[in-house]
Amino acid sequence: MNVEKGYIDAPVPAEVKDLKEEIARLKKEKKAVIMAHYYQKGEIQDLADYIGDSLALAQKAAQTDAEIIVMCGVHFMGETAKILCPDRKVLIPDMTAGCSLADSCPAEEYAEFIKAHPGHTVISYVNTTAEVKALTDIMVTSGNARKIVDSLPSDEKIIFGPDRNLGEYINSVTGREMVLWNGACHVHERFSLEKIKELKKEHPQAEILVHPECRKPLQMIADKVGSTAVLLKHAVESPVKEFIVATESGILHEMERKCPEKTFIPAPPEDSTCGCNDCSFMKLNTLEKLYNCLRYEQPEIIVDKELAEKARRPIERMLELS
Ligand code: 13P
Ligand code: SF4
Repeated sequence: MNVEKGYIDAPVPAEVKDLKEEIARLKKEKKAVIMAHYYQKGEIQDLADYIGDSLALAQKAAQTDAEIIVMCGVHFMGETAKILCPDRKVLIPDMTAGCSLADSCPAEEYAEFIKAHPGHTVISYVNTTAEVKALTDIMVTSGNARKIVDSLPSDEKIIFGPDRNLGEYINSVTGREMVLWNGACHVHERFSLEKIKELKKEHPQAEILVHPECRKPLQMIADKVGSTAVLLKHAVESPVKEFIVATESGILHEMERKCPEKTFIPAPPEDSTCGCNDCSFMKLNTLEKLYNCLRYEQPEIIVDKELAEKARRPIERMLELS
């Protein structure tokens, strides 16, 4: 089957009456597990065996005994799963689901940056390519970055990349002066501080939840800064009933499912009349592509063996320290 487009572009057979049921049947037949990030479309999250943030998905991938892992997320998530489970088949519904943050850190330039800072420990965010991971000492996600940085001696010199907003946030909460790579996520950088302040005036009781990939002024007005899983936990546990949510809008699906009595307002981006902020890469995965991916077992994530070995060490170090 042709995957030239990055996904299998085949019609769903007419005899398939219920696509969701058919995906569930194929999954069982093939002993596959479906993992989905919180930014996936709601219908994909509903079908997944596990939904989670980047950290939880890496942890689940490391533990699974399924023969096939279908990673409903972006490419670096599938690549991380493949690096951790080289003997499993790792599939992704759309291979072109990239990440602007990973793209903001080309491996050759990162290698130069590291060379320019001898004696520094290299900590990198998991939103990176396998090549960048191979240059790294310890990987982190937004869910464990603070804990991992705190576990290192206070005088240890650190390079942190690629997300400068997360890096600045970690510097501010740990008192470190990590040297930061200047990268960012186009989705989280788009949020409008002004529009969020307006929303807060309209909903004075609402708490503002902010992902650390957002810019510092947003972090400063937040009631809670954290990874998607941390924000979700906060929404569940808080006595407050209304929340303004400044991260990709897919997270609202699980927040609303877990807290049907609460109201979640997506924080708006600067450059759009639309009220919410989607990651176009995350939303490339659809039910049809997921179905075809399971049916034809393609597109498959392949990582060069030698590269995977180098990239595995910093991910395993992260999992040990998490
Ligand atoms: P977390 O899953 O760590 O919250 O990160 C968000 C993200 O941008 C993933 O692409
Ligand atoms: Fe990458 Fe940003 Fe999309 Fe996450 S939301 S996958 S960091 S582009």
